[in-house]
Amino acid sequence: MKNYEIIYFNEINSTNDFALANLEKLNDRQVIVANKQTSGRGKFSRSWLSSEKDNVYLSIVLKPSDKINPDLPLASITQYMSVVLCEILESYGIEAKIKWPNDILVNNKKIAGILTETSIQGDTLKGLVLGLGVNLNMSQEILAKIDQPATSLNLSINKHIDKNIFIENLLNSFFSKYDLFLKEGFYLIKQKYLAKSLYIGDGILLKTLKDTSKVILKDINNDGSLQIIMNGKEKIITAGEIII
Ligand code: BTN
Repeated sequence: MKNYEIIYFNEINSTNDFALANLEKLNDRQVIVANKQTSGRGKFSRSWLSSEKDNVYLSIVLKPSDKINPDLPLASITQYMSVVLCEILESYGIEAKIKWPNDILVNNKKIAGILTETSIQGDTLKGLVLGLGVNLNMSQEILAKIDQPATSLNLSINKHIDKNIFIENLLNSFFSKYDLFLKEGFYLIKQKYLAKSLYIGDGILLKTLKDTSKVILKDINNDGSLQIIMNGKEKIITAGEIII
């Protein structure tokens, strides 16, 4: 049975902005889907190209405050979504990989990104917005406008992708194990996440809010954080981005 509800927009500034601005009124598990965004946002305040009506631009509103395991790091909800997203993409016959923490790559090119934002008042979590952009149907010309190597599902399998079916499969899969995920956290997906993770054991360029450094990606910890070696010393990183 469907345990989420979708609100559709033809055009909106950003599904994440709408969800955050209307968080009080929106229910747990409401999903905002738009055909286009005029101010689509990515991580690190980048813009997210949002002009293609057959791509996925959606935000999921989650209000898990009363059920959430207090030890659950919220970042791992994004990692849970990364695994779900890889599995849905793989059901189209391609191999999808994760670049920590939550970029989805096909043949080393980005196909999807996730932007999780929270609203917190005092020490209460008012809600969490899980924003998702997936390149489903794009031309090479439009992809070339993106400032990093990018690809699209239609180009990988040489076929137009039905966006509504993709969204339905994705949301059904996400919500089928969501309650279990809230109880178990990253453990639930750790093995799958590791199996799909790129660069473990490799030297990488890691960008954090402070700076960008050359480090070795040693492992991924039980809470989804990154274990690195920097200047010979082990460190744990909870937020940042691997640059390729
Ligand atoms: C990233 O930088 O990788 C994250 C991109 C997230 C884009 C999605 S599209 C739907 C939702 N609304 C936004 O403005 N951003 C997210």
